[in-house]
Amino acid sequence: MDLRSDTQLIGRAPAKLNLYLEVLGRRSDGFHELETLMMSVRLFDQLCLSPVFSDASSRRGEISLDVQIGERVKPRATAEIPSGADNLVVKALRLLQERSGCSLGARVRLIKRIPAGAGLGGGSSDAACALRLANRAWGLGWDEQRLMQLGAELGSDIPFFIRGGAAICRGRGEQVERLPPMGAVHFVVVKPPTGLSTPAVYEAHDAIETQAAPRRPDFRRIVSSLARCHTTELRGKLFNRLEAAASALSPWVARIGSVFRELDVVAHQLTGSGSAYFGVCRHAQHARRLATVLKTRQLGLVYATRNCQ
Ligand code: C5P
Repeated sequence: MDLRSDTQLIGRAPAKLNLYLEVLGRRSDGFHELETLMMSVRLFDQLCLSPVFSDASSRRGEISLDVQIGERVKPRATAEIPSGADNLVVKALRLLQERSGCSLGARVRLIKRIPAGAGLGGGSSDAACALRLANRAWGLGWDEQRLMQLGAELGSDIPFFIRGGAAICRGRGEQVERLPPMGAVHFVVVKPPTGLSTPAVYEAHDAIETQAAPRRPDFRRIVSSLARCHTTELRGKLFNRLEAAASALSPWVARIGSVFRELDVVAHQLTGSGSAYFGVCRHAQHARRLATVLKTRQLGLVYATRNCQ
């Protein structure tokens, strides 16, 4: 939930995990047609947004961004996270300002805790959060659908993050079919020291996919287990078509995968285009216990987390 204090709005931008990701084909616009099950999880960036009024010299209020990097993601993240006009938060707010004709601007402070280049959707989630906050701060009254359509112009995952939760996403990811609220699902997540570029992983996928594609499991089996809160039934049901391509680009993927195979975990795989990798756990204590074990293995950042409800 977003909290309000005077003229400053504060919002949390969750990370996501892909429990299922199938690439159905390459499109003429260069994107790939997807079918993916995404779930937002309790690993958050934070945004603080204050409206800015235009002065006599300008027609529109300025949009500015101050990025603070959280302690845990620090040494590498500073170079990886775009600041200023290159950041999706600024792009999203400028587009909203333009389309709504609003003369207000925004001053945003972004605290980054979600690692970049991880397939955790941090940049897209920040942009979605900024759109929601500005919609309120600027008094626009846009509904979710309209914010989602605007977000889709900037990034395939942004529409999903306008509400978060769990959803099946299709098209290039922007067509969102929400799943009903579900019980707790606990995870352990590992982000290796090096990240992966999403376009590079899709390119590697296209090179590999000239060979015959292996099995294509059915995501509905996952949905059914989640609806009945039978997390342990997820064993053998998760799937990520991009894992082979990500493994070809980063040795960390196979290395983390082999560590997870030794662990007592329900199911495990790469999230999105990587490089982060996750395991499904039986309960919160199980996730914390596995996180403690994984932290001794020098694989990078480790988080015990759960779905947002
Ligand atoms: O939409 P987004 O900006 O997140 O996509 C980043 C890049 O990932 C795209 O430029 C494209 O190379 C690749 N991509 C893709 N098919 C998708 C989503 C992303 O090829 N469905």
